[in-house]
Amino acid sequence: MTVDKQGSQAGAPVPRHVAIIMDGNGRWARARNQPRHYGHRAGARAVREAVEACGRAGVEALTLFAFSSENWRRPATEVRVLMELFLRTLDRETDRLHENDIRLRMIGDRSRLEPRLRERIATAERLTRDNRGLHLNVAASYGGRWDIACAARALAREVAAGDRDPESIDETALGEQISLADLPAPDLFVRTGGERRISNFLLWQLAYTELYFTDVLWPDFDAAEMHRAMDWYASRQRRFGRVPDADSGAGHA
Ligand code: FPP
Repeated sequence: MTVDKQGSQAGAPVPRHVAIIMDGNGRWARARNQPRHYGHRAGARAVREAVEACGRAGVEALTLFAFSSENWRRPATEVRVLMELFLRTLDRETDRLHENDIRLRMIGDRSRLEPRLRERIATAERLTRDNRGLHLNVAASYGGRWDIACAARALAREVAAGDRDPESIDETALGEQISLADLPAPDLFVRTGGERRISNFLLWQLAYTELYFTDVLWPDFDAAEMHRAMDWYASRQRRFGRVPDADSGAGHA
């Protein structure tokens, strides 16, 4: 077996789309007697490492849960720190993302973000929209239920306008309205920080995704940890509800 320098098996199936809940920044900071924002800043550095590791491995899309619909309930000071961190990270990293042919997109309820953050996101999306490398999607003010409700509303509007027969509404029609419909659904979901929940992330899109949970706190999730997750993925048999194919030895479906 050939092993590359990060420890992944050469020739193993690489997930096309990886989705990550980055959890554990607060505990990482507390373990160092530091305030929570110290952990979030370390988390932003881990984001860069994850993006680079996925790019090198040939992953096509990486979707990161940066801020959930529920995170608005955190103390106002922490919300402010996080929004400021998103803004500064965008300012600092957008040119580098563009140079590396990465396409940046934000999914979530933009109406709740402050105008200057909305503007920076729109500028970064415009600049990188024709890039052909990694699709980097950042979910901010995002919730899976919000996403499904938006898709349902879009279909309801088409029906109300007389442009759609209600009987035509099926999984395909709804799936076409959901965030990231132009990308393959995530193959691999990773949650750091020890909890074993999906927490209202990509509810529709994760239907057949392989779920990987690790106790590692997000700021410690480095390239080696990413490769550990990908190696675990490579060992899974994906059947999408079918039975194993005896002739093919039930390979990676
Ligand atoms: C969860 O850890 C983390 C967040 C709610 C914020 C995620 C943000 C980052 C990783 C920083 C920057 C991201 C980008 C895209 C620039 P927690 O605070 O819930 O940790 P805890 O469970 O230990 O309290």
